[in-house]
Amino acid sequence: MDHTEKKGLLIVFEGTDGTGKSTQLQLLYKVLHDKGYPVVATREPTDGKYGREIRQLYVNRKKFSHEKELELFLADRREHVDELLNPALRNGKIILCDRYFLSTAAYQGAIGFDPETILNRNSFAPDPDLALLFQTPVDIGVTRIVSDRGDTLNDFEQIESLKKVAEIFSGIDRPYIKRIDATDSIESVHQTVMGHIATLFASSSFLPLN
Ligand code: TMP
Repeated sequence: MDHTEKKGLLIVFEGTDGTGKSTQLQLLYKVLHDKGYPVVATREPTDGKYGREIRQLYVNRKKFSHEKELELFLADRREHVDELLNPALRNGKIILCDRYFLSTAAYQGAIGFDPETILNRNSFAPDPDLALLFQTPVDIGVTRIVSDRGDTLNDFEQIESLKKVAEIFSGIDRPYIKRIDATDSIESVHQTVMGHIATLFASSSFLPLN
């Protein structure tokens, strides 16, 4: 998209599983919505046809080849960009997106693809204005999934593989990435998130946060 057409902001929430990013997205959504900002929440994988196929992989990751898995995430993103993200950015919305292409670089990178090549294959997707990268030691994330949520680990959440994912996330360098220590309390992480949002809004056409 030509930058003159882009009136909104794209803020993405990234990190390994169990870092609390979805909770933080919801908290931020509520603050912005209550203050009257034109905010939209969305996620990847989406609930579209490719996203539904991807969810089948959670219970059996061997269902598709690694190539097919990567293709599905890219197809899902392409649809998301065309149908929701680009139109919302043109319409001046503030988009909060739970996972985006850094997740593809990290998770599909962890199964053997080159992370930079994956990022290049996402050049059709607009860069985020801000990528909040939530970081906790993998064991803490896994404990949150198993003990706190009472969930079992799905095929994307196995410890060894998540350690590789975390390592790739740590190695990616982009100017829009802000790393957040997500081992702190929900409220303290929320305050850190609000600090980054205030800085972003101050250099955007949106009213400053106060
Ligand atoms: P979540 O809904 O709990 O965030 O789970 C989505 C899972 O999908 C998570 O384990 C990460 C994985 N994923 C990828 O492997 N590649 C991607 O490109 C995206 C967006 C997610």
